[in-house]
Amino acid sequence: MQIVVDLTRCQGYAQCVFLAPEVFQLHGQEGLLYTPAVPDDQLERVRQAAAACPVQAILLGKE
Ligand code: F3S
Repeated sequence: MQIVVDLTRCQGYAQCVFLAPEVFQLHGQEGLLYTPAVPDDQLERVRQAAAACPVQAILLGKE
């Protein structure tokens, strides 16, 4: 599945980093880095991260 994070919306709440650390990382000044092509074994975690993001910045694409 492909994902996009709207970085203009992301406020660094880091719920995604806690829930799916293999996909989302926060790097100081650079802000949020992520893997746009989500491996199958991370799908559920990424869905939880998208649901948990307080500003709905994580957009899930087609599987
Ligand atoms: Fe940003 Fe939402 Fe993650 S605000 S750091 S995408 S939980």
